[in-house]
Amino acid sequence: MGKPLRIGMIGYGFMGRTHSNAYRRVPNFFQTEYTPVLQAVCARDADKVKAFADQWGYASVETDWRKLVERKDIDAIDICTPNNLHKDMAIAAAANGKMILCEKPLAMNVAEGEEMCQAVEKAKVLNTVWYNYRRVPAVTYAKQLIDEGRLGRIFHYRANFLQDWTISADLPQGGTALWRLDVAAAGSGVTGDLLAHCIDTAIWLNGDISTVNAMTETFVKERKHTLTGKVEKVGIDDACTFMCRFGNGSLGLFESTRYARGHKALYTFEINGENGSIKWDLHDLHRLQWFDYKDEGPLRGWRSIHITDGDHPYMKQWWVPGLQIGYEHTFVHQVADFLEGVAKGESIGPTFRDALETQKVCDAVLDSAKDSQWHNV
Ligand SMILES: NC(=O)c1ccc[n+]([C@@H]2O[C@H](COP(=O)([O-])OP(=O)(O)OC[C@H]3O[C@@H](n4cnc5c(N)ncnc54)[C@H](O)[C@@H]3O)[C@@H](O)[C@H]2O)c1
Repeated sequence: MGKPLRIGMIGYGFMGRTHSNAYRRVPNFFQTEYTPVLQAVCARDADKVKAFADQWGYASVETDWRKLVERKDIDAIDICTPNNLHKDMAIAAAANGKMILCEKPLAMNVAEGEEMCQAVEKAKVLNTVWYNYRRVPAVTYAKQLIDEGRLGRIFHYRANFLQDWTISADLPQGGTALWRLDVAAAGSGVTGDLLAHCIDTAIWLNGDISTVNAMTETFVKERKHTLTGKVEKVGIDDACTFMCRFGNGSLGLFESTRYARGHKALYTFEINGENGSIKWDLHDLHRLQWFDYKDEGPLRGWRSIHITDGDHPYMKQWWVPGLQIGYEHTFVHQVADFLEGVAKGESIGPTFRDALETQKVCDAVLDSAKDSQWHNV
């Protein structure tokens, strides 16, 4: 076991589970100088948080996150709460000198994100944001291919993130897990929840987005609120489509909705370059589709590469060639990279500053959807 890195995690929902799993798995598969220690988990309900701590092996619990961030026996705060809570938690954690791992989107809007960046930079604390799809081995490999120049000049970037779980008009907004439908907790709908992932990956793979033109729709205009019991206006975007220009001259097209009947979490992207194209699909996440213009004429076609060999990113840490890994491993990879960063005293990407770039695109998209004009990012 390496040097301890004592984690204090806030929130034990969906992400709390993926992160806890990652902290526990990392030392079994990666040789890092630091080892995560599950020091404390925090949520408001004392019984439920205790049950979670017992199940996952946390040494202690807190019901007030302000107490957690002040504790001297915690090195890193992991923020796994709804979006409207990220800012205050991150700023308080930074003020207490803690490293921070924050869930995405970074904040409710750019103004909040700026404050958070300033706080971590002033406190000089290591920070990262959980845009975990960067660490799907096939996506990391796509990044390598692009950086090696194999696609040549890039013309097009296309991404979708499609779900279908909010179609019923009877689904309420607010409260446990349904905070995503409540604009006061989420900030936006599919733009901040789903497109933010697509935008982070796109900026990472293809560089900055300079201008956007978007449309959004809210198909169900009113929903009962679980906390007030009243039928209230829905303030989130149920669907968002935008086109954009990248700084490198390529054109982008992005679509996300929670009204695509039949799709559960269909995140896909396709990149078309001068010398080749790349396609990826979250439902088949261990495959990368590759078309190479250099291939001989009659044999030319799309290659479906099974990203499971020892020379593919992260894969030599896992099983033997041919055996694939899944969604939860992206979080393990992010923790492993974060720990390497800790050893070197460096933040790993995406940092708060990187995530602020995604936030800027999200804000510009939502502004454009309001006035139907092109917006600079
Ligand atoms: N990286 C990803 O792919 C990904 C996926 C899902 C969610 N997320 C992000 O993770 C965050 C959490 O989402 P989730 O799906 O885990 O939500 P969730 O509803 O499953 O869990 C939220 C947790 O926050 C806790 N919480 C709420 N208010 C709190 C407070 N005041 N003090 C302490 N704890 C509090 C709740 O008890 C709950 O445990 C969001 O920012 C979301 O956008 C990221």
